[in-house]
Amino acid sequence: MSIQILPSMLAADWGRLRDAARACEAGGADQLHLDVMDGHFVPNLSFGPDFVKMCRGAVGIPLDVHLMLSRPDLYAGRFIDAGADAVSIHEEAECDIAATLSAIRARGRRAGLVIKPKTPAEAIVPYLGAIDYVLVMTVEPGYGGQSFMADMLPKIARVAEISRNAPAPFPIMVDGGIGEATIGACAAAGATQFVAGSALFKAPDIAAAIASLRAAAARK
Ligand code: DX5
Ligand code: ZN
Repeated sequence: MSIQILPSMLAADWGRLRDAARACEAGGADQLHLDVMDGHFVPNLSFGPDFVKMCRGAVGIPLDVHLMLSRPDLYAGRFIDAGADAVSIHEEAECDIAATLSAIRARGRRAGLVIKPKTPAEAIVPYLGAIDYVLVMTVEPGYGGQSFMADMLPKIARVAEISRNAPAPFPIMVDGGIGEATIGACAAAGATQFVAGSALFKAPDIAAAIASLRAAAARK
């Protein structure tokens, strides 16, 4: 599976969101990652469907929407209407997970399943036929700019093993504290899709930063 770099727009300058999204696209980003927080599932609020719509109008690359919501079942459709190409929901959410994943697929979008740091790899097993990708959180969700949790590496490797043995192998995405110093270990453990917020938006040249993260992942 090919390496993908996904800038997290949570770390962008929202005062110039359109330009920031376009700079990611021009700089070689594979998808934009959009972090939606409800102030309940995680102790922070971010943005809603209008932000996704704004990004949709700015770029042609796919939009990967990460729903940190207690009830993603109630809102996934609105993010799809706004232009999401992929929607991920948390295994720990308070709804029928299988039904929500299949509702996302029924709209022709890719469905992702996310696991928080304390959730074991095995929690994804009941959903293997229903997912297009798995997102392993490498920080506690809720905020950008946190430190990478190296103790998640064995879990990434375990999810990779589950993927290899699954009837339809799926890509593994990682999110949280991903940068030059941490991406190689995640790639070595089996991740191929890398979300990065601070590491990309704090860099002086986002295109160069995307290229160098991609190179670091390929070196593993
Ligand atoms: C955290 C979000 C991440 C976050 C990553 O809850 O899911 O996508 O924006 O930011 P960095 O790369 O700064 O850790
Ligand atoms: Zn995210």
